[in-house]
Amino acid sequence: MDAFSSSFCTKFYPYTNKLAFSPTSTSSQTHLFYISAVNVEERPKRTTNSSSSSTINTETPVLGGGDHAKKPVLTKRKPSSRSFVTETPSFQSTIFNTFDNFVNNFIDPPTRPSVDPQHVLATNFAPVDEFPPTKCTVIEGELPESINGAYIRNGPNPQYLPRGPYHLFDGDGMLHSLLISNGQATFCSRYVQTYKYKIEHKHGSPLFPNVFSGFNGLTASAARGAITAARVLSGQYNPINGIGVANTSLAFFSKKLFALGESDLPYEIKVTPDGEILTVGRTDFDGKLFMSMTAHPKVDPKTEEAFAFRYGPVPPFLTFFRFDSSGVKQADVPIFSMTRPAFLHDFAITQKYAIFTEIQIGMNPMEMIFGSGSPVGADPSAVSKIGVIPRYAKDESEMKWIDVPGFNIIHAINAWDEGEDEIVLIAPNILSVEHTLERMELVHALMEKVRINLKTGMVSRQPLSARNLDFGVINQNFTGMKNRFVYAGIGDPMPKISGVVKLNVGEDQEHKDCTVGCRIFGPGCYGGEPFYVAREPNNPDADEDDGYVVTYVHDENKGESKFLVMDAKSPTLDIVASVKLPGRVPYGFHGIFVQESELKKL
Ligand SMILES: [Fe+2]
Repeated sequence: MDAFSSSFCTKFYPYTNKLAFSPTSTSSQTHLFYISAVNVEERPKRTTNSSSSSTINTETPVLGGGDHAKKPVLTKRKPSSRSFVTETPSFQSTIFNTFDNFVNNFIDPPTRPSVDPQHVLATNFAPVDEFPPTKCTVIEGELPESINGAYIRNGPNPQYLPRGPYHLFDGDGMLHSLLISNGQATFCSRYVQTYKYKIEHKHGSPLFPNVFSGFNGLTASAARGAITAARVLSGQYNPINGIGVANTSLAFFSKKLFALGESDLPYEIKVTPDGEILTVGRTDFDGKLFMSMTAHPKVDPKTEEAFAFRYGPVPPFLTFFRFDSSGVKQADVPIFSMTRPAFLHDFAITQKYAIFTEIQIGMNPMEMIFGSGSPVGADPSAVSKIGVIPRYAKDESEMKWIDVPGFNIIHAINAWDEGEDEIVLIAPNILSVEHTLERMELVHALMEKVRINLKTGMVSRQPLSARNLDFGVINQNFTGMKNRFVYAGIGDPMPKISGVVKLNVGEDQEHKDCTVGCRIFGPGCYGGEPFYVAREPNNPDADEDDGYVVTYVHDENKGESKFLVMDAKSPTLDIVASVKLPGRVPYGFHGIFVQESELKKL
């Protein structure tokens, strides 16, 4: 059984509900993670600088990472490339933290499983510490000569263990990179150094409220709002510099690599030749990008343009925009015809159009104020819609919305034009959408092929597999164009992925499962989103599936993580190479593979 051995500390006393994770094991036992009553804010002060020879000058509790087969002990932290000084908490901080603890313990304790850190951060969802670039061992097969570059995956990894309610989406973004060059692999884990991360690191404690879990009910929202206002007014931080955690995905466009979270601007990232991950900084594209941007921009492989959007709680609920091939952001196209502040996490493009959805999940401020739920929730009375707009539209005058009851997608995998008037969209439709935020383990995502006739407004939907599939990817050379193959994770339950399937979505096959390839990782082994890496990325004549499917997989029995390279053409997705990772990779969200030639230009 994986569990935390101690209960969530609820005693009202400054700092005593700060918790730290400690991995523990015996040589013969399943590895367990538990919370021990360690006050994070009382951790020894540390000073690091960019010199690789600098180390923390004292012993520090390790939150995770490193060798998880060892008993939890106070060990010396490995050299860090970061440059921070943790300040002694001021009297002011102590007061704010005390009020924060009071709210977390007495007004809004984490009673629901979806926001209870003991539940949310159990097993391989537990955070790890940063891990410096370290050479890895290939334990099965060989890394293909054609794979040279970095696979990087993003995910939530709270810098400080939560004082109170915590949702999976609230964690600070951590990047786990495997740099592969000439058959050698180098692993590294680093936080995205967001403004939030740096300010909280400097103060040595959490300061920002958790967006997905911190505003439940009027009293808790008012209390946390007041504490937030007090922190801002006292100068602890300035939200204008960004409140995001950049924990969702990565994207490569404008000849730059970005870590993304949809509540903030992109953070530019670099991977150095020795495998180190650096955060260059938050970017507003010469002042043209405001507030936030989707974590799922779409890059046209032919034109190298990037299409994106932002959404929010006040009209226009949706704003569409793009970056030209030089990386220059073009003018916003506000979409006032979107009628509700729906949750809009992803979209799709074709060669002619951009496709959005208005799903039944939306922002629900009344529930936040008068109920006890999240400010984001499902509205069963709402009718889902698909909205289509020419991708070079200057305004929304040509946008069409079509009612599609019961169509609730979080992710869109690909879309393309067929004939003059039709669009085909491939996306996993979330059944029982009401569970998306609160009971993710009950979510079933049904992969669908959706045909939209723009002339008649008719929409037809074809299920592609009965399996619970999400985190689907394609050969990115086919973004916006007709393609055949989708590689998707099998939710068991979501967001844990027990295997990967390959679907043939190119042909219409009524009442037939479109699975043409499958690999199950094995008992106790779970991965994340797969990613497709072409064997010859610059060969326009290469088969669509002439390449590899890669992903991180964690073995919960051994407490070990590995990197798998699978043959995309094989019906059993044969393992081409398996790399043992020196650090644990917690379950997370989206990743990317960036070719070595592109990394050198960053
Ligand atoms: Fe996503």
